[in-house]
Amino acid sequence: MKATAKAHTNIALIKYWGKRNESIILPTNSSLSLTLDGFYTTTSVHFSEEYTQDKFILNERVVEGEQYRRVSEFLDLIRQQAGKSLYAKVDSTNEVPTAAGFASSASGFAALAAAGTKAIGQNMSDRELSALTRQGSGSACRSIYGGFAEWEMGAEEDGSDSYAVPIAPAEHWDLRVAAVVLSSTAKKVSSRAGMKRTVETSPFYQGWLNSIPTDMSQIKEGIKERDFQKVGEVAEANCLKMHATTLGANPPFTYWHDTTMTVMQTVRDLREKGIPAYFTIDAGPNVKVLYLPENEEVIEKTLRNIPGVADIRLSRPGQGVTYL
Ligand code: PMV
Repeated sequence: MKATAKAHTNIALIKYWGKRNESIILPTNSSLSLTLDGFYTTTSVHFSEEYTQDKFILNERVVEGEQYRRVSEFLDLIRQQAGKSLYAKVDSTNEVPTAAGFASSASGFAALAAAGTKAIGQNMSDRELSALTRQGSGSACRSIYGGFAEWEMGAEEDGSDSYAVPIAPAEHWDLRVAAVVLSSTAKKVSSRAGMKRTVETSPFYQGWLNSIPTDMSQIKEGIKERDFQKVGEVAEANCLKMHATTLGANPPFTYWHDTTMTVMQTVRDLREKGIPAYFTIDAGPNVKVLYLPENEEVIEKTLRNIPGVADIRLSRPGQGVTYL
């Protein structure tokens, strides 16, 4: 009863920002992302009668505490669905440098869901797997698919229609993403806490929700037509709207550092010079820059020269979950 799966992380172009149900993770808005080949997690799950409790090993180290609890609770979901009560050993390798500012939880929970269900003998459709993965970490449900994927928020209260669906495979469009890693990494508000606070207190939150349907239909058109300007403009504006909600929260907060804003301005300056590039930012200070292959050299060089930037990590569209 053992299986191994690999999943890549993803970057949201239309952000998931807010939950309507915190325990089974149902979002208040649909979101859309690009799966990235540069950052992934490989996970083996082994269920056995010999184990007396779950065990979680990450990058060759035994994990305890909050991280262990989240994995073990997710295994409970897998056991429940399969009607089995065996404990498991989970062995994960993360190729997602935490410092790159990507949530390793996205690739982590997607790989865990795939390997865990397979190991326990369940053959799930991608949709079922995505809906299960969602309950580990929301954004992870999009990592089941390669390329562009949309997480449809759904309407049911049991979450049965809240899962990701494929929009276009990785081969559809070689859209590139540069992860700009900042050297200062001050304490941040977790995405979980940040969402909750903005949903509950920010007067801008309703404005955010109102803007989603138009952003979503425009970006889907842009992806279909491989229209870089359209996709870039919608993604950048959507990111700014999400971050604006945090400034209206009580107490107010922002994920941005001074260097975050310097990178944003550098991207705007590149556009002024005729080099198309757009930025997006998740629940942290690091910036992701969207660009096209022909501009890779100038993009990388320009971003590397910004004071306060520690590293640049380049990525292409990646594949969905695979079994090894
Ligand atoms: O799935 P979580 O809890 O890591 O939240 C992700 C939230 C954002 O990264 C800010 C947006 C997104 O859609 O990925």
